[in-house]
Amino acid sequence: MKICNTIEEMRAACRAVRRAGKRLGFVPTMGALHEGHLSLVRAAKAGCDVVAASIFVNPTQFGAGEDLAKYPRRFDRDRELLEREGVELVFAPSAEEMYPAGAVTWVTVEGLSDKLDGRSRPGHFRGVATVVAKLFHVVEPDAAFFGQKDAAQVAVIRRMVRDLNFAVEIVACPIVREADGLAMSSRNAYLDGQQRNQALVLHRSLMRVRKLWESGECAAEKLVAAGLKEIAEEESVRLDYFEIVEADSLEPVERAKSGMVVAVAAFVGTTRLIDNILL
Ligand code: PAJ
Repeated sequence: MKICNTIEEMRAACRAVRRAGKRLGFVPTMGALHEGHLSLVRAAKAGCDVVAASIFVNPTQFGAGEDLAKYPRRFDRDRELLEREGVELVFAPSAEEMYPAGAVTWVTVEGLSDKLDGRSRPGHFRGVATVVAKLFHVVEPDAAFFGQKDAAQVAVIRRMVRDLNFAVEIVACPIVREADGLAMSSRNAYLDGQQRNQALVLHRSLMRVRKLWESGECAAEKLVAAGLKEIAEEESVRLDYFEIVEADSLEPVERAKSGMVVAVAAFVGTTRLIDNILL
C-alpha cells in the first residue's frame, strides 16, 4: 500500500493506475475508520480493479466552535485497517497541501447546501463540495463511494458531479449499524456509556416512522410527529431536525413516498449525531 502526502505524488500514482487501463475506485474519508468506512472500501474493491482512499480532516467543513480540534485522529490504526482491506493507494495530505495560502475558490451547490445539515451547519457543504471536488481532481477516479449515512452529502455530491461534469460514477452504500441499531460514526467515540444509550433514540425514532409508514400512513406531518414523540421521550437529547425529504432535492414533502429519506439530527450532550432511513 502506497501512502502519498502530496498532491503531485498522489496524482502520479493514480494516473499510472488509469494508464494501465485499470478501473480506479475512490473512498474519501476523514479517518478514525470504522466498519461503515470499511464497507465503502469493500464495495469499491468489488467494483474496481484498484482502490484509493483519502484520510483528511477537512478544516473547511467545520464551523467555528465545532469539533475540528478534537476530531479523532488515528492514522496508524487507519493505515493498518486500509492495508488489511487491500487498499492500494492512500492520500493523506496536510491542510497546507490541500489549502495553500491564498486559496479563495469555493464550490457551492446552491439550494442544496442550506438544507438539513447545511441549515444547522452554515458553510458545511461548501467545505465538503470544495474538498471533494479537489480530491476528484487529484485522484480522477472512475467511481467514488459514499455512505447513505450522510444522505444530504450524497445529494450535494451527486448534484455537483452532474453540474460540473465530473466523469465519476457516484455510488451510495447502505448505513452500517452497531448490533443495537446505532449508526456507526467516528463521533460515537465522544459518547460516554449513558450517552451511548441515549443516542439509540435516533434509530428508534426512525423505526417508529417506518412502522407507521408500513401500516399505510403517508402524511409527512403525522409520520414526523411520531418520530418527534419518540425523540421527546429521551429528555436529554436535543433535536436539531426531523424531516421527510425528497432524496435528490432534499426538499421536505407533504406525502411520503417510496425512496424518500426520513432524516434526523440531534445533540446527545454536545455531540451532534445524524441518522436516516430510506422509505
Ligand atoms: P467521514 O465522516 O469520515 O465519512 C467518510 C464516508 O464514510 C462518507 O461517505 C460517510 O457517509 C461514510 N460513512 C460514515 N459512517 C457510515 C456508516 N455508518 N455506514 C456507511 N457509511 C458511513 O463524510 C466525510 O467523512 C467527509 O465529509 C468527506 C466526504 C470525506 C469530505 O471531507
